[in-house]
Amino acid sequence: MSQPFMDADAGPAQTKAKIRIRSADASDADNLSIYFTGLSATTRNKRFMGARADFALVAAECVAKVGHPDHFTLLAELSRDGRSTIIGETRYAYHAAARHGDFAISVADIFQRQGVGLQMMNAMERQASHLGHEMIAAETARTNAEMRGLAKKAGFADTGLGDWQSVYLAKRLTR
Ligand SMILES: CC(C)(COP(=O)(O)OP(=O)(O)OC[C@H]1O[C@@H](n2cnc3c(N)ncnc32)[C@H](O)[C@@H]1OP(=O)(O)O)[C@@H](O)C(=O)NCCC(=O)NCCS
Repeated sequence: MSQPFMDADAGPAQTKAKIRIRSADASDADNLSIYFTGLSATTRNKRFMGARADFALVAAECVAKVGHPDHFTLLAELSRDGRSTIIGETRYAYHAAARHGDFAISVADIFQRQGVGLQMMNAMERQASHLGHEMIAAETARTNAEMRGLAKKAGFADTGLGDWQSVYLAKRLTR
């Protein structure tokens, strides 16, 4: 069953709208596919670190491991006038051999820079910590200023292990 993590006003432009963050389940696959299709090419390319066109498949993959202890997908959902729309997602996976989780995240273009990404990062960290995971790491393009800015604000540090193209970021979780 989906668990809400956060309720918040969506900001001045969306009065009477609510944003909540919850776990995705199999019933979200179609709406997640619609969400990915609606992203700008720029946001999509950054999210997938390259071009993807098979959004139904990507969405199905995001919800395929629901119930698996080391994988989850969180959705940011805007509710207005009784209707809910996905406006952000983050997919998390834990790698036991490396002893850290990693993630990918996106926020719908018109909702970027309104705090949704940070709220999802916080919810992801809480859930990963709850699962007993101690470290989250992520790779992002050196040119991805928004992801690097978001990670820095969320408390991630540059591990220095990147190259001219990529930056590797990591954060130790506190329980
Ligand atoms: C990265 C992303 C998820 C951030 O989501 P968001 O909801 O816009 O982020 P927030 O509004 O919570 O921003 C939190 C902080 O991140 C940083 N940040 C966000 N956008 C930024 C930008 N364009 N440039 C620089 N810093 C930025 C800022 O420090 C910001 O805090 P501030 O607004 O108080 O200055 C969003 O830009 C996105 O979907 N990008 C495309 C997909 C992507 O690059 N994913 C990462 C690879 S998987």
